[in-house]
Amino acid sequence: MTTTVPDAQAPEAVFDAALAADERIEPRDWMPDAYRATLVRQIAQHAHSEIIGMQPEANWITRAPSLRRKAILMAKVQDEAGHGLYLYSAAETLGTGREELLDKLHSGRQRYSSIFNYPTLTWADVGAIGWLVDGAAITNQVPLCRCSYGPYARAMIRICKEESFHQRQGYELLLALSRGTEAQHAMAQDAVNRWWWPSLMMFGPPDDASAHSAQSMAWKIKRHSNDELRQRFVDICVPQAESLGLTLPDPDLRWNEQRGHHDFGAIDWDEFHEVLRGNGPCNEQRIERRRRAHEEGAWVREAAAAYAAKHDGHHGTHDKHAEHTEHDNHGKPEEAAA
Ligand SMILES: [Fe+2]
Ligand SMILES: [Fe+2]
Repeated sequence: MTTTVPDAQAPEAVFDAALAADERIEPRDWMPDAYRATLVRQIAQHAHSEIIGMQPEANWITRAPSLRRKAILMAKVQDEAGHGLYLYSAAETLGTGREELLDKLHSGRQRYSSIFNYPTLTWADVGAIGWLVDGAAITNQVPLCRCSYGPYARAMIRICKEESFHQRQGYELLLALSRGTEAQHAMAQDAVNRWWWPSLMMFGPPDDASAHSAQSMAWKIKRHSNDELRQRFVDICVPQAESLGLTLPDPDLRWNEQRGHHDFGAIDWDEFHEVLRGNGPCNEQRIERRRRAHEEGAWVREAAAAYAAKHDGHHGTHDKHAEHTEHDNHGKPEEAAA
């Protein structure tokens, strides 16, 4: 046997060729350890953000101004739980279980998006979050639908479809307030003033200070740089703010004919790093609430695990034929069939 044949089939070569051909890497494919670790870290942070992100908005469910608004908000918060589920499942395909990831979240060893450490002070914040925070999330996540890791890419397709509804409901909510009474308009403007800059920070540090970007781009996990996506988001938001009748709180924001983009003011990265370090307005409250929810949900997990164990054990003792017979026994309890 020549040495060239096994070389050509070396797992690294197969992996590199798949990336070069824009094919998806699937759970059973060989992948570099660092690729796996990067994905677990990114998917976990993303999953954590989905479920922590339920809190600021859930804060307003009982105070929504109408039945229609309450139904919409409940559905949205529920969607976010679903996004968490898709993403924890995607991480599981890489060999890291949900329990381990939740443990890391609860003990502060893994992060979630800093945006959720800001408080929701008024009803208009629900609109600003939908328009700006879900809007920024979509801008970040649409390219992830083409991410090189199959299960993550497929989860993102579903998530992005739902996120675009979230963005529209936020826009529609703000539009109603903006066109309402003077006080309602002021409330909408105040919410946009508070959420604009934190939304821009959602794209992460500037490209020259971003630790993981270059390798993630080479692995085709990331398709665009932080600054590219941030610029895209600003360009999308400016005309939307105009049609909302609201202003964006940045005196340096203006169209740059030469660049074909909007210029915008400097971001306060000190604030970003403070919130990241755990000193945001709501860091402690969010994690405390999350831990409590997890503890209070223990009985549900135990019941589900006991139910699954009982059924797995049961089916495991039967061959295919026996299972068919059992399913034909309409209404007969499984214990009796066994
Ligand atoms: Fe989401
Ligand atoms: Fe969302």
